[in-house]
Order: sequence, then structure tokens, then C-alpha cells
Amino acid sequence: MSNVTLNVNGTTHTVDIDPSTRLLYVLRNDLGLRGPRFGCGLGQCGACTVIIDGVATRSCVTPTSRVKGEITTLEGLAKDGTLHPVQQAWIDEQVPQCGFCQNGQIMTAKALLDRNPNPTDAEIREGMARALCRCMTYYRIQAAVKRAAGGSSAADAKSGGKVVGS
Ligand code: FES
Ligand code: FES
Repeated sequence: MSNVTLNVNGTTHTVDIDPSTRLLYVLRNDLGLRGPRFGCGLGQCGACTVIIDGVATRSCVTPTSRVKGEITTLEGLAKDGTLHPVQQAWIDEQVPQCGFCQNGQIMTAKALLDRNPNPTDAEIREGMARALCRCMTYYRIQAAVKRAAGGSSAADAKSGGKVVGS
């Protein structure tokens, strides 16, 4: 065990852990941040995604000792009681079904839009492709990403044809 310092959502935390502990467990169990979810635990589904220095990162396979940058979790998106545009778009498009994957979808979308504020449909599909949804909400995810980008919403996405991840 040793002290590890993490910067999460703008706050510095020091936790006494085995440094090899995966970041997901530290966030959920030590810091009480339940946005990131445990899905596969193998880096394959995306449910555990957080953003580290702008990069969507699978926290279930990330040793905490390797994390040096600023961590943003789902809890860090809203500011002063106002939802992040991606969160608001998710509500407006009524994206979630069971909801289990949606942390990963939202965090992946935020990282995508931060690096590419006006993605094409193809870029959205490519950027979101590794965030899996067993409820197949991919069409609504694409509409929400377009809405958050300031583009058109569900009706336009529908005419765009292909469903994300299909
Ligand atoms: S829980 Fe981390 S990628 Fe599936
Ligand atoms: S909404 Fe159920 S897994 Fe995506």
C-alpha cells in the first residue's frame, strides 16, 4: 500500500492503495464516484470510461499508479448546476434504455467533441464505435452527438441512414 495522489474533477485526492489497483475501483470504492461503471472489466465495452487529459480512457484496465493527468468523470461534467451540452443532448434525445453503458457513451462523446467539435456522421460512428450498448441505442446516440455538436437532431440523423455501430 502507498499514497497515490489523483486530480479528479478539479479536486486533489490522496488515497492509500495498492498502486496497481485499477483506476475504476479507486474512483468507485475510494472516492465514491459511481458514474464510471464496471461492465466487462477487460477494456472492451467502454462502460468504465473516464477522460484523462482529454483522452477517453478505460479505467477498468488502467493501473492507478500510471495516471498522471487530470481525470474527468461523469460527475465532473455539469458546472454550477448546469448540465454539460452532451448531457443535455442525451436527455433531449432520450438516449438511454437500461442505462448501463451510458456513462461510457457520454464520456466518449465528450472526448470526441472536444477534439472535433463538428464531426461528420462518419466521424461520429468511428469515434463512438468502441463504446458498446447491448440495448442498441446507437441511433439515438448518434442523434445526441449531433445535437450536442450544434448540428441537427434525430430527424436529420435518421435521414443519414446508417446506425452507429451497425
Ligand atoms: S468495464 Fe471497462 S471497458 Fe468494459
Ligand atoms: S442503454 Fe442498455 S446497455 Fe446501453
